[in-house]
Amino acid sequence: MSEISPGSGEPRPNPRRAIDRMAPYRPPTGGRQELLRLDFNENTIGCSPKVREFLATSLNAGKLPTYPEYSETRRDLAAFFGVEEEALVLTNGTDEAIQVLVNTYLDDRQECLILQPSYAMYRFYAEVAGADVFALDYNPDTLAFPLEQVLESISAKTRLVMIANPNNPTGGSISLGAIERLLKRAGNAGVLIDEAYFEFCGITALPLIKQYPNLFVSRTFSKTYGLAGLRIGCLLTQPENAALMRKGQSPYSVNAVAAAAARVAIQDQEFITGYVTEVLAARQLTEVGLEKLNIRYFPSDGNFILMDLTGRAERVVNGMRERGILVRDRGHEIPGAVRVTIGTREQMDRFLVALKEVLA
Ligand SMILES: Cc1ncc(COP(=O)(O)O)c(C=O)c1O
Repeated sequence: MSEISPGSGEPRPNPRRAIDRMAPYRPPTGGRQELLRLDFNENTIGCSPKVREFLATSLNAGKLPTYPEYSETRRDLAAFFGVEEEALVLTNGTDEAIQVLVNTYLDDRQECLILQPSYAMYRFYAEVAGADVFALDYNPDTLAFPLEQVLESISAKTRLVMIANPNNPTGGSISLGAIERLLKRAGNAGVLIDEAYFEFCGITALPLIKQYPNLFVSRTFSKTYGLAGLRIGCLLTQPENAALMRKGQSPYSVNAVAAAAARVAIQDQEFITGYVTEVLAARQLTEVGLEKLNIRYFPSDGNFILMDLTGRAERVVNGMRERGILVRDRGHEIPGAVRVTIGTREQMDRFLVALKEVLA
């Protein structure tokens, strides 16, 4: 039954305590379309032309009255990731993968281990669930992954560990050897390895799934594939886990257009390889440019670089925006840190020219 909230005239339902306690998470998502978007680690040139053509020519309104069907997408994606069909949970982006994982394995007041700074949605969904979140810091000087500390911090009470590999925003990655040590130490606690930036780094825990019943790997079509607006990704794990997760998942959380587009997207690996090659060249060019400008940065295995702009961060973020380029202020996590997404060499040239101007 709702109660009367203090200060308001009308009766209003009170939120759950977990929601009440949470700090709002509001990424700056408005007014980005016309600018050079180097703020969200998206693909900066858009998706494969084959996906574009598919969206323009093969979709018709006649398909919209029916609920989505996933069997072909599941079959194709499972084959692409080299897992059994039953090992794949199709999700509305990585965000839903995290949500479903948390909903399946983490109860109110149970413990979950994350690192900071990292992708905000691990904490977000764990807090929504009312879980107790323990966050370990990346090394404050080098931003290296604190492996020994993480291993020591996993206890019998830990139910879930969530790690981005490579990590956003720090950029570093951990080896398969380190992941195996974590999986062994975690025992029957779940370990999520979020591989949103896999294509730029090449390390994947997918081959470990058969051996480790506590491993969950997520992949997304939001980054390299250029389909962030469609919201599609997947979670890969042993079939017994996948079946449990599907129990608590909405049967239609991925829309029909996204499911169909993902099938087309995986077929165009030439586009993916071409884009990744371009971004890696642009990352190197950006590193050289930052060195020339005497800007400290943290080496990255993703399509982004975290820069140390202590004392100049606000000026840079605002000055770049005035020049039509968006970068992301991460000062709330690491004082003075600004993250730039790596696009093409041409886009990064433009970024470096503007940055030089702003700092002049
Ligand atoms: C580590 C990591 N995981 C997942 C995502 C987003 O995934 P999705 O768009 O698939 O929900 C991001 C986006 O910034 C990210 O940095």
